[in-house]
Amino acid sequence: MDSYLVYRGLLLPKTVHTEDSLNYYESIQFQDDDVILITYPKSGTTWMQEILPSLLNGGDPTPVLTIPSWIRVPWLEQVCIPEVMHTLSAPRAFVSHMPFNLMPPSFFTSKAKVIYITRNPKDVAVSHFYFNQMASFLPDPGNFEEYANNFLAGKVIYGKWTDHVKSWRNPGLGDRILYITYEEMIQDVYGVIKCVLGFLDRQLSEDALKGVVEQCQFKNMKQNKMSNYSLVPPDYLDTSKSSFLRKGIAGDWKNHFSPELDAKFNEVINEELKGTDYRFLWEQVQHN
Ligand code: A3P
Repeated sequence: MDSYLVYRGLLLPKTVHTEDSLNYYESIQFQDDDVILITYPKSGTTWMQEILPSLLNGGDPTPVLTIPSWIRVPWLEQVCIPEVMHTLSAPRAFVSHMPFNLMPPSFFTSKAKVIYITRNPKDVAVSHFYFNQMASFLPDPGNFEEYANNFLAGKVIYGKWTDHVKSWRNPGLGDRILYITYEEMIQDVYGVIKCVLGFLDRQLSEDALKGVVEQCQFKNMKQNKMSNYSLVPPDYLDTSKSSFLRKGIAGDWKNHFSPELDAKFNEVINEELKGTDYRFLWEQVQHN
């Protein structure tokens, strides 16, 4: 528990958040043309941080190639936000892992748009397991089975995956929110980018669009030091333990889950999503 601070019931890593940054977070004033990317951690945040600036800049890849991802599309709730805020020009793009009910007050009166990405929770758990190994500011996750049980119990940063996705489902934002999935991005990132462009009322030439698609390919992002987290000192993120951009595939959970863990995971997730209208692209989680 020493690694965490508790913010309104949520576990957050102490090194990345402070009481000051969270106070600042609560006072943020949104503008109507802001775009906020919301994810539960390990759902494709960095991928969309690669895409969004180019869409908001007429396809110009310069920000993506010259500014670290956490500065070009900063976290609303992280420690560097007060310094970064004044460097941004409209239209601003942000990311956040916060549940809907903990958004800053001005969010609820603004017209800022939200892009919400979900990913198969089994792949989220696997990705997060490796991230916990490499991040010195998070506790040792133990073996995968132990980690997966903590994940299901919500004893991980940002709490339960099901609470997060449920909080952002039908929050009364109307056409201010666009839902996409990591799996759709894997299947057809070109189509997803076109959909995001439509949502943001923006257009790009076909060449510029293809440029964005190319830039955000996994292999190219791995080479982009503004996006691959190699700029972060190894005593924070130890790349000898895992890469931040690790595998970039859907379905790696099959290499990590025992049949028993898979059954338990399905049971818990299905039970907790009962009554929601979530329909996911992946076939493994069925719910009514
Ligand atoms: P894996 O650990 O499964 O590889 P986040 O940015 O929300 O922390 O999510 C990180 C996950 O997104 C990692 O998953 C990472 O590899 C994956 N990812 C990032 N960019 C990607 C891309 N261009 N294509 C596919 N996956 C990507």
